[in-house]
Amino acid sequence: MAVEASRRGFLRSVGIAGGAGMLYSAMGALGLAPVPEVSAEEYRAPRSGDFALSGRSRKKVLVLGGGIAGLATAYELGKAGYDCRILEAKDRPGGRNWTVRGGTTLTDLDGRTQKASFSKGQYMNAGPARLPQSHVTLEYCRELGVPLEVFTNQNANAYIYQENSAALAGKPMRWRTAKADVYGYVSELLAKATDRGSLDKELTATDKERLIAFLQNFGAIKGKADGFAYTGSDRRGYSVEPGAAFEEGTVLGPVPSLSDVVASGVGQRFSFEFGYDQAMLMFQPVGGMDAIPYALAKAVGQDRITYGAKALEVKNLQDGAEVTYQDADGRTRTQRADFVVAAIPPMVMARVKHNLGADVTAALKYPTAVPVGKVGLEYGSRWWETDEHIYGGITPTDMDLSTIWYPSYGYQGRRGTLIGYYNFGANAVAYSDLPHAQRVERAVSRGVKIHGEKYRSELEHAFSVAWHRTPYIEAGWVGWTSQTGPEYQLLNKPAGHVYFAGDWLSHVIAWQHGAFTSARKVVTDIHERVMAA
Ligand code: PHE
Repeated sequence: MAVEASRRGFLRSVGIAGGAGMLYSAMGALGLAPVPEVSAEEYRAPRSGDFALSGRSRKKVLVLGGGIAGLATAYELGKAGYDCRILEAKDRPGGRNWTVRGGTTLTDLDGRTQKASFSKGQYMNAGPARLPQSHVTLEYCRELGVPLEVFTNQNANAYIYQENSAALAGKPMRWRTAKADVYGYVSELLAKATDRGSLDKELTATDKERLIAFLQNFGAIKGKADGFAYTGSDRRGYSVEPGAAFEEGTVLGPVPSLSDVVASGVGQRFSFEFGYDQAMLMFQPVGGMDAIPYALAKAVGQDRITYGAKALEVKNLQDGAEVTYQDADGRTRTQRADFVVAAIPPMVMARVKHNLGADVTAALKYPTAVPVGKVGLEYGSRWWETDEHIYGGITPTDMDLSTIWYPSYGYQGRRGTLIGYYNFGANAVAYSDLPHAQRVERAVSRGVKIHGEKYRSELEHAFSVAWHRTPYIEAGWVGWTSQTGPEYQLLNKPAGHVYFAGDWLSHVIAWQHGAFTSARKVVTDIHERVMAA
């Protein structure tokens, strides 16, 4: 009663003070609105009036790294008129946000060079490739005019392929078939147990009735008279499609036994799409993920970005900071600024000479680099669409290639580019140890088991990236043993006039959202410091 009364009182008071909109969002905060509003942390970009109105002179900021975090830092600070310069070691913006097209080259840390020979219009997103609806990345796409299209992360027609399971091994199974069988048998078991009284401690008579009604719907199982049996349904798919006149279609069979379905482990794949960041709908920029860094670079101003600039030393000074780097012509140069933002991977920054202290170096070395690899395979036909009716989506496997991705662009076209492996850890290292041609051969030898010989015979071009063997990047992403320990704390604070930014300093590692929000945090910290001085 007391709680209710004070709730009402609170709502009335904000209702009076703030109007209906505010009342509504306050209801959300209390869990009363139909769907509570969720958004990224409050962020207010620095504004152009902030300097002029307060009579302060605009500050100079040097950013190390033209990846998403570095670009976003310069972009946001630029809104208030900060004089930002970006030093980027590579010859392009984006960092791991990298779209490979025909002509793209890569020389890895082992000195091996590849040149992509993809056809016109074909590309692979070698780094980030999917955007969830909740990520601020979508807000930046809106702000920067980067058009989006759906990225298909989950497709009922894609397969699950397990060759090491006890049962059904080596047989690609469509997601829809796997779901029909797992949901069906689980429903059968639970309905039987419920009906038999095995759950009477947990359930009232009404609960039992409702639960059974749900399970019949969820699992497409038979009624009580037939023992709630799961015997298959058209949810599995068809071996002969229904059609005109007398063609009813033939439901795919035979239905494997409950024991085999459980042993196959296919059900363990389902939770992937329950993940907060991996659930449909997802998006991708039209024409390649690198539309984001190129739009950011344009907004920052191309003249503010120096490519081919390799950081050699970062010095915190009494009243600023300075960076010494080697330029594209091999000359050593030094630039001074009020602040430096190091938006490069921690293990790379750890090797840059600096005067920020041994504890900073130790903290930078603390997160561990995660090996990640990807291969793009261009085919002369879209056989996965024409022969297998797979339009986008992903086939997870228990092979070392991990997953095969079907393209979410160019449907019904003449050619198309798959991702033939996207793997982490030991699997990524196993592939990266091989020269490019052998990586492709290995991936193809696995893919043939799912898709047949055309997986080899139709292949025309391939390009592989091993992020952990890529200069100035050296990992797909990093992992922290602890993000509450002193290392993480230290790097989330400035070392004098030097700040750190990147997805690695967020709780959304391996997503551009992490890089954007980290940049916003550093921008806010710098701007508050400047405005307070
Ligand atoms: N964002 C990357 C991806 O979607 C890496 C990642 C995978 C991050 C799984 C979290 C979970 O593939």
